[in-house]
Amino acid sequence: MARINDNYLKLQAGYLFPEISRRVTEFTTANPDAKVIRLGIGDVTRPLVPAVLAAFHAGVDDMAKGESFHGYGPEQGYSWLSQVIIDKAYKPLGVELKTSEVFISDGSKCDSSNILDIFDLSNKVAIGDPVYPVYNDTNVMVGRSGAANEQGYYEGLVYMPCTEENDFAPAFPSEKVDVIYLCSPNNPTGTVTSREQLKAWVDYALENDAVILFDAAYEAFITEADIPRSIYEIEGAKQCAIEFRSFSKTAGFTGVRCGLTVVPHELMGTTATGEKYSFNKLWNRRQCTKFNGVSYPVQKAAAAVYSDEGWAQVKEVIDYYMENARIIREGLTEAGIQCFGGVNAPYIWLRTPEGMTSWDFFDKLLNECHVVGTPGSGFGPSGEGYFRLSAFGDKEKVVEAVGKIKQKWGK
Ligand code: MLT
Repeated sequence: MARINDNYLKLQAGYLFPEISRRVTEFTTANPDAKVIRLGIGDVTRPLVPAVLAAFHAGVDDMAKGESFHGYGPEQGYSWLSQVIIDKAYKPLGVELKTSEVFISDGSKCDSSNILDIFDLSNKVAIGDPVYPVYNDTNVMVGRSGAANEQGYYEGLVYMPCTEENDFAPAFPSEKVDVIYLCSPNNPTGTVTSREQLKAWVDYALENDAVILFDAAYEAFITEADIPRSIYEIEGAKQCAIEFRSFSKTAGFTGVRCGLTVVPHELMGTTATGEKYSFNKLWNRRQCTKFNGVSYPVQKAAAAVYSDEGWAQVKEVIDYYMENARIIREGLTEAGIQCFGGVNAPYIWLRTPEGMTSWDFFDKLLNECHVVGTPGSGFGPSGEGYFRLSAFGDKEKVVEAVGKIKQKWGK
């Protein structure tokens, strides 16, 4: 009989969001008349904007004619899309990139896991706590860790607690690490890394020969002027960082699928025998072998996000979600619930009322207010006693949810 990958058995629980769905389904089955308000998984609810939709349709129509039909595209994505991204999303930040450094993909969740293919298992990896569970679980799945301890920390991984005490900004690891995951704006805490903090991380990575995996999936939600939207705004970052970006939250592509990963030519690692080798070359090799690119109509739609018309429409949707974030943040704060994030990110991280555990609050909120959120402990041990609400819902439902929470826990 074939052997399974036993590393999967080390994972303590099912993936967080399916577990939430399971509990919600159980509740709705038992209470078919309850109208549940879903502010759990960060899934968008607004439709694709007209300019994006028109380009998407045009892309499909192209596929109907012999002269404009597209078969396999480049595994790295069409260079016209990479060029638009460089011109519209990076150049205004003062960041120069080549199209050969931008890899279009079907999303940053996949990329931030697949990237492990190009790192040796011996690398020491540091992740935040709480953290987007994909970083932790995929390292366990590839065999970089031992078992989890009672608290939920896996042996062999280095955790960087992000707590109220350090304003959710992790301290440098106390031991030598080779790979560091950073996420700003942060999922789940909704907080951001300042320019000074990011510079300190880049300097640290350069001094310690570490690679930063920088997840910028929520950069479009930044509202404050001086917060970096890309790690490459920091000098030296091209020698030490890979950046992930996504169209999912920015432009409502969670069901469409498109993201990108930047692997600069300057970024080097070492071979087993100590020679320098380009991570860009390795990622290119990986993508060419294991990936066949994103569909042509989807890439057409993605390019339209950055047209003048498209961006104006997309920006309106982002503002809509950020208004929801304001409503949640201010409403809960009024109710005496301590809130973090929600200013430069579509997530509000709150302290559970009455000292409840994260899952107890989840169950109470679902059963008594019919509101779904995400328990902080699902993002790591330091998330215990916290809870995440997503701002991606319909405004009326967000207002209703906040009203119910205020009524139940307001002081
Ligand atoms: C979340 O809710 O954390 C995200 O939707 C998950 C994801 O982007 O994969």
